[in-house]
Amino acid sequence: MRYSDDIIEEVRSRNNIVDVVSEYVRLQKKGSSYFGLCPFHNEKSPSFSVSPGKQMFYCFGCGVGGNVFTFLMEYENASFPEVLEKLADRAGIELPKQEYSREAKQEADKKSALLAINKAAAQYYYYQLRTERGQQAMAYLTGRQLSAQTMQKFGLGYAGRYSSDLYRYLKSKNYSDELLKISGLFNVDEKHGMTDKFWNRVIFPIMDVNNRVIGFGGRVMGDAKPKYLNSPETMIFDKSRNLYGLNIARSSRKKNLIICEGYMDVISMHQAGFTNAVASLGTALTSQQCSLLKRFTNEVLVIYDSDGAGVKAALRAIPLLKDAGLTTKVINLSPYKDPDEFIKAEGPEAFAERLEQGTNGFLFEIDKLQLEFDLKDPQGKTDFFHEIARRLCRFTDELERNNYLETICSRYRIEPQMMKKLVNQLALKGMGITPRTEDATPVKQKQKIKVSGSDMAQRLMLTWLTTYPSIYEGIRKVITLTDFTNPLYHRIAELLFFQMEKGKPEPAAILDKFQDVEEQKEVAAVLHARIKLESQEDRQQALIDVMFRMKEDSLKKRTSELAPNDSEGFMKLLKEKKDLEELRARKQKLHISFE
Ligand code: UTP
Ligand code: MN
Repeated sequence: MRYSDDIIEEVRSRNNIVDVVSEYVRLQKKGSSYFGLCPFHNEKSPSFSVSPGKQMFYCFGCGVGGNVFTFLMEYENASFPEVLEKLADRAGIELPKQEYSREAKQEADKKSALLAINKAAAQYYYYQLRTERGQQAMAYLTGRQLSAQTMQKFGLGYAGRYSSDLYRYLKSKNYSDELLKISGLFNVDEKHGMTDKFWNRVIFPIMDVNNRVIGFGGRVMGDAKPKYLNSPETMIFDKSRNLYGLNIARSSRKKNLIICEGYMDVISMHQAGFTNAVASLGTALTSQQCSLLKRFTNEVLVIYDSDGAGVKAALRAIPLLKDAGLTTKVINLSPYKDPDEFIKAEGPEAFAERLEQGTNGFLFEIDKLQLEFDLKDPQGKTDFFHEIARRLCRFTDELERNNYLETICSRYRIEPQMMKKLVNQLALKGMGITPRTEDATPVKQKQKIKVSGSDMAQRLMLTWLTTYPSIYEGIRKVITLTDFTNPLYHRIAELLFFQMEKGKPEPAAILDKFQDVEEQKEVAAVLHARIKLESQEDRQQALIDVMFRMKEDSLKKRTSELAPNDSEGFMKLLKEKKDLEELRARKQKLHISFE
């Protein structure tokens, strides 16, 4: 069910974000905004801001941001319709009902039927493992030193050798083909009809945090390929939002959670007493999984395989975890491949020791980064130092940043004053806008900085426009929508310009036009960033710089994209270039009103 834009907008505008957020976070007024401690990450000084003018919130620490809908969705881990209903209720607005309930009810019915099917399948596999037919599988698991108790705790099972055992079992329970088809448990093909997806495999049921079976992993008992087969995503199985083992680990009462790669690793760690272990589901860690972890802990120990791929995976995970407000430590298990092997070879005490010796996530990143640079070469060294400075900018808490700065400087024998200067210079280049984390893979980073220069100007322009709507008139004479060459910023600009033409900017309403979570995050960051320049003159100067920069970049880009025979386009660009030159000559007299 989709509600109309009008009703969504009405619900949003009748729920003042300051009032709603105040029900959850203690806010204090500072200037035109309200500040408080961010509920989405751990912090000691308030960097969570709510702007009544923009009807948005944004955390300068962890980068979450949005409007009143996204706040509640994040805070209560709720879906959009749930939040909409709650806020409609709060404001005394009646939502159009019938259609919604029918469709939603059908979907809810389907979901609960799928959960029931998964549960029945898990019970079936569980039972099979413990019969005569399951002997070989039982021998395999016992051979991997799993106790009966461990097998029971994780609900391990076995899918038999026949390719439609499960199908027949579930049919005997009267489930329709239509439902079984979307359960992810069967291969559907015209010739053979429906056959079991898993056969002759050891089965690992995957549960969500509330102990409901949502999917399965199945391992071959020998060397055949693929080693593991997993359920596909279904209506109830979203791999990016679940973690294997979290249903148990959530109540482990340890001071942190351990994240690793594999099913067997989780299980052997639990058996050895490390009941706080979870695994991402055979894919790269996602930001949703990080938020899920954050619900249960503040610290995550990262254990990936000690090979190149494992290091890469760890490097990708660290900034995501940090963004979710988690501190990270990376655990080194070499010379062993994974926790399962380590524990088998060295035992739990040695493993516990390794956990104690984790490297702080940021230091781990810098250590690995160093390998990419030739420190004997002056240029290599300079680049390395610049990259360190750039990454230090990610820390918005000054004390934290300085602590890292000092540790790194002594580790690499860098003069701290020099590094401080570098960091400040870089922060200033962001025009006083709080730097945001970029999910950078180190190898590609150098290119990325260059590319994002022109994006940065467009981003800044959007921030200026939402901060000082009165400049629109002046800006509009120079900047057009075409000058927003970045697709995301272009879409924002379109919506923003439209609102401006109608009257005033409504950043919070813009946000609802973006469905993708990552996009929403970026949009919120753009629209809610703050500009720190105080004096009128500084502002004038900075804005004009950004405007020129943006126009130049746009002209350059459009010129390079021009078809060779497009003479009309060519003339148009030429004229724009001439106008820009004239404008530049008059620069001193250019005035854009901030009032
Ligand atoms: P590994 O190959 O490291 O396996 O894959 P493992 O967990 O150590 O398993 P054992 O000890 O050989 O039995 C790590 C994880 O990647 C996913 C699984 O989730 C696995 O646990 N994976 C791996 C797959 O989904 N499919 C595969 O074919 C292989
Ligand atoms: Mn293994």
